[in-house]
Formats: sequence, structure tokens, C-alpha cells
Amino acid sequence: MSDDTPTAIQSIEWRGDHVRIIDQTYLPKRKVYSDIRDMGRMWEAIKKLRIRGAPAIGIAAGYGFYMGIKELPESSFQSFWVEVQRVEEYLQSARPTAVNLEWVINRIKTTMQAHKDKPISKIKEIALETARTIHDEDKRICKKIGENGVKLVKKNSNILTHCNTGSLATGQYGTALSVIFHAHKAGKKVSVWVTETRPLMQGARLTAWELKQAEIPMHLITDSAAGLLMQRGEVDMVIVGADRVAPNGDTANKIGTYPLAVVAKENDIPFYVAIPLSTIDNNIDHGDDIEIEEREGEEITSFNGSQIAPKKTEAYNPAYDITPNKYITGFVTEKGIIEPPFDKNFEKLFDE
Ligand code: MRU
Repeated sequence: MSDDTPTAIQSIEWRGDHVRIIDQTYLPKRKVYSDIRDMGRMWEAIKKLRIRGAPAIGIAAGYGFYMGIKELPESSFQSFWVEVQRVEEYLQSARPTAVNLEWVINRIKTTMQAHKDKPISKIKEIALETARTIHDEDKRICKKIGENGVKLVKKNSNILTHCNTGSLATGQYGTALSVIFHAHKAGKKVSVWVTETRPLMQGARLTAWELKQAEIPMHLITDSAAGLLMQRGEVDMVIVGADRVAPNGDTANKIGTYPLAVVAKENDIPFYVAIPLSTIDNNIDHGDDIEIEEREGEEITSFNGSQIAPKKTEAYNPAYDITPNKYITGFVTEKGIIEPPFDKNFEKLFDE
């Protein structure tokens, strides 16, 4: 597979002693790689969306966590563990909505604790091994999500997607975009409506870039054009990713997802959410429990580095919204398609 095939893109790579990311803030103008060697730089890369998309944020945080704990003194496990919690808190402050960041760190911590009788140098190695395992697993899971979703896609259909959920947002393949890539590969002849995704333009910059490379027919639309297209019968299916899903199916995803879901229901258009099961947060009950990241107003008052609103305009910039479960037709996961009632059907999966 060539390096330019979208499903082969590696947004993040472990290179023996450091991480190499594609700095997504430069795309699509330039493909710039950035080498990250310490936790502070990783925090900055996540915060500034150099690496972004829930699964990719989790993978990056796993390596960032290792970089943070690698520097800690190797005295007693107890004092080491106090510092480990500080590293965790610091990284979690980068972006709060995507569950993947805390999920990955918790999983690494659980593995470390299971080996707490070993020398601290060994526990550090175990942390890195776990981060690498999670990264590899994500690639396999995203491939499976794509394969499982193909059966939902009708031949010759127009699919609408929001934000970027492709290889750039994950270890590889993507979530919602993995379904689209796999449907295209299976000869379904799909065409994609790509919302530009204000204010940071992940759709226009990143999804359009990935789809172009895959030679999948697409049109870029403004976020606000989606309603008209759905009303006119020009959308057969909506598929998006998610940053955190409550056990009842309420879903946090990029701002603008909720209105898409409401208009899809109004027009009898299936609305699917593609996720790895790790996106389900079993520590909460419903969508109201999800913290919504608020970003700088400057992301709205300026465009491409130039001020567009009058000087000193105050702006409010929530990065995500919550789509209530009643608007969601189903979840595409690595274990298959999950239909309502989501609470019962998710529970069954976790009991398996
Ligand atoms: O702010 P971003 O670009 O990190 O937001 C990304 C999204 O909202 C994606 O839809 C979500 O993370 C799912 S990615 C597979």
C-alpha cells in the first residue's frame, strides 16, 4: 500500500524513542511531520490540534504519559505513583471531551499497578508496551468498524459526514470515514457530502484531503447547507464519529452534530455513529454528564490568521455538542451494529 493511500496514512508513529506526528494544522497545504520527545510538547500538540480526533488523541496521550513518567525518579512505588497522578492530571487538562485520553491513561495505569512489585524501570517499560499495544489495537478496531459498516451503505448513495474521522483522527483507517472507505472499496459507488466544520475546518482541510486521495467522489458544503440537502432528498445516510458516548447512547461529537441528527430524523434519514467500544464511558449515565470543551473565541473571530469580526468582539466557542440517543439510528462498532435500546444492547456487549 502506498504511503499516500488514505487508509495507509499514519497520523502518529512511535519511532523507538520519540513520537512522529503529521502536524494536522498545516494540512492540506503541506504535509509537515513533527517529532515529539517530551510530555510538554505532547500536551501542546493535543491542545493545539496538531494531533486530533478522539482515538488519535488517546494514542498520543498514551505516548505522552510514558514520556512524562519516564523522567520520574525511581525511588519507592508510592512516591512514584504520586507523581504518576500529576502526569495524568496534566495531560488530561489538554482536552476534556474525548474519553480516549483518560481511557488510555487509565488502562496504562491499571497495567502498571498489576506489576507494582517489579522495579520502577520495568514498570516504565510496561507503560510503553501498553501504549504501543493500544495503538496497534486501534488500527485493527478501526478496520473492523469499516468492514462492519459496509452493509449499511446502499449502492449509489450520498453520504453526509461531519468533521474528520479518517486515518488522521485514529491509528489508521478511521471510524465513520473507515465505513466510507470500505464501502467505496466494496464497489458501492458512494458520493460524500463533507461539511466544512467551522471553526477549525476539519472537514474542508482534512476529510476532503483524505477523500481526494482515495478518489472518492465528494462535495464540500458549508455546515449550514446540510439541512437543505436533507430536505431535498439528496442525503441517503449520515455517519459521524464520536468523542464520548454515554451508556444510554447520548453522544458527544464535533459541534454541529446535534442539528444534523435532528434534521436527519425530521427527514427520515438514517443517522449512524461509528465508534470503537472504548468511546462508551461507563462512568457516566447520560449526555449531561459530559464536559464540553470550550475553546478560544479567537478561533471564530478570526479566519486563517486574520481578524474577521470587529475588534474586541466576544465569542462563545464550544467545540462539541450532545446528540440525544433518540436521534441515533445505530452505532457501528468493532463488534457489529448496535441498535436501540442502546443501554440494554451496550450492556449485553460488555457482559460478553
Ligand atoms: O476537535 P477535533 O478535531 O479533535 O474533533 C474531532 C471529532 O469531533 C471527531 O468526530 C471525533 O473525534 C471522532 S474521530 C474518529
